[in-house]
Amino acid sequence: MKIPLSTRLEACCRFVNKGDRVADIGCDHGYLGIYLLKNGIASSMIEADINEGPLDAARRNAVKFAVKDKMTFHLSDGLQKIPRDFDCMVCAGMGADTMMSIIHHASDWLKDPRYRLILQCQSKRPELRQWLYDEGFRINRETLAKDGKFVYSIMEVIFDPGHAISPAETYITKQLIEDNHPLLPEYYERVKSGVELTIFGLKKANSDQLSIYESILRDLTAMEEQIYGNRS
Ligand SMILES: C[S@@+](CC[C@H](N)C(=O)[O-])C[C@H]1O[C@@H](n2cnc3c(N)ncnc32)[C@H](O)[C@@H]1O
Repeated sequence: MKIPLSTRLEACCRFVNKGDRVADIGCDHGYLGIYLLKNGIASSMIEADINEGPLDAARRNAVKFAVKDKMTFHLSDGLQKIPRDFDCMVCAGMGADTMMSIIHHASDWLKDPRYRLILQCQSKRPELRQWLYDEGFRINRETLAKDGKFVYSIMEVIFDPGHAISPAETYITKQLIEDNHPLLPEYYERVKSGVELTIFGLKKANSDQLSIYESILRDLTAMEEQIYGNRS
């Protein structure tokens, strides 16, 4: 039986290390955990969701794919009611505000280099990246995946205070350039168009934020050589 895992979630799985005990926060259907167990990547899964409906679906799918004995199920707002004995947390398909709230409410213990956070955020990614650095986290790796017409970014984040991220890097990170994914030019063009659109709006509104975004656009444009330079 084929596990109906999206390319986006498959990309999240590539940041999980063999033998990791994984917590999938906002697990919904549970397919990410099922894939990780069936492929011998994760050693155990904590499946958590704030809603009973998705958690039930995850339970049913776990039985269907015969992995229930390696999973535990938790009705929990973020990390509030889950055990802390995991190596890696996956948080996918949520907006930046939800992710920041989930991390913030567990920050007294989650701010520990032993945990790796795999984040696939649906909105306000620059704000999330800046917030993570302000809180002492650092992006270790970042990659891309495409499902339908959307290109998604997936980050592996660790607690490692004392690092900084520039405003332009909150849009296109060094780690994303290093990753050099075939989708990078497409992702870059989308990000750049978004900044250009913001500048257009700020000009019309005569906003004092204009110079900030113009500087971000200049710095993004300066990344083009690195992004396009080593492609045939
Ligand atoms: C859009 S789905 C994404 C599911 C899956 N992670 C994916 O990427 O395909 C978001 C899921 O997160 C759950 N969720 C939203 N806020 C949450 C929170 N604060 N704590 C735990 N789960 C949450 C929702 O109930 C839903 O099942």
